[in-house]
Amino acid sequence: MLGRKIGEGGNSDVFEWGNNNRIIKLAKPNTTMFALEREFRNSLIVWKMGLSVPQPYEVVEVENRPGIVFERIHGEPLKERLFKGFMQHVHGGQSNFDWNDIRNTARLISEVHQFSHGGIPTQREFLKKQILSVDYLREDEKKAVINRLDQLPIKNQICHGDPNPNNILMSNGRPILIDWNDTTNGNPESDLAEFVIMIRFAVLPTDTPQEVINGFDSLREEIINIFVEEYTLHTGTRYKEIEPWIVPIAARKLSADAISDEEKRLLVNEIRIRLRDHEK
Ligand SMILES: Nc1ncnc2c1ncn2[C@@H]1O[C@H](COP(=O)(O)OP(=O)(O)O)[C@@H](O)[C@H]1O
Ligand SMILES: [Mg+2]
Repeated sequence: MLGRKIGEGGNSDVFEWGNNNRIIKLAKPNTTMFALEREFRNSLIVWKMGLSVPQPYEVVEVENRPGIVFERIHGEPLKERLFKGFMQHVHGGQSNFDWNDIRNTARLISEVHQFSHGGIPTQREFLKKQILSVDYLREDEKKAVINRLDQLPIKNQICHGDPNPNNILMSNGRPILIDWNDTTNGNPESDLAEFVIMIRFAVLPTDTPQEVINGFDSLREEIINIFVEEYTLHTGTRYKEIEPWIVPIAARKLSADAISDEEKRLLVNEIRIRLRDHEK
């Protein structure tokens, strides 16, 4: 039943499964059956809401690895499309960079945020646990981050938790959100902070062509602006409301396995600058 490998993330390897319409997401050793069952429940909830997500079918175990069977999305990760766009941007102006990908993604995320559901974990506790588990910050720094988090008002909206361009599949111009592993009920600004931090600080792998790196560097802030502009259009939420979420979300990101040490050093630096500025 296990077919060709078609994808990989920080927590899983993804394979074709059965016919052409299903895939299986098999956990890497860093991911437990407990975490996978949570992801399955979250995915089922958002799928039943009619959001643009793959249908989850079942949790199974294959070769002693827990897995989730999902509907297969025939599309391309937004990351691939962005990379192609960066390359073209460097070679011949902006015309080939598809800003609709960014705008459609912002709109989809604003749709997710319209919902709330009791079956999804509560964000504040989830974030605190992640922040406290981080090795890259001192204990007093983690306390200061949590203090800041405690001062933010609590909201109860579904947040994807990891809206990075590997978790957005583009199918005929339509974005589809996958990977509902870090999903919580909480403050939507957290998802926006995730996106902003990722675009601003992402360190591309060392084998990335230099022109892609240059293209990305020249477009980072524009991508953020267009994304937030579109989100504001649908929700009224503005960039300045995202600002207080940069420190706690950057701290949370230090607990992720999927990002490099170099990127983590940039995040630690940003957190320290922002904590210090606050003390003045
Ligand atoms: N339903 C799906 N249809 C097609 N490809 C998928 C699907 N789910 C995941 N993939 C591919 O597998 C990769 C990893 O999946 P993801 O759920 O993000 O795993 P992780 O939790 O390890 O990040 C994705 O970037 C995508 O390329
Ligand atoms: Mg992923």
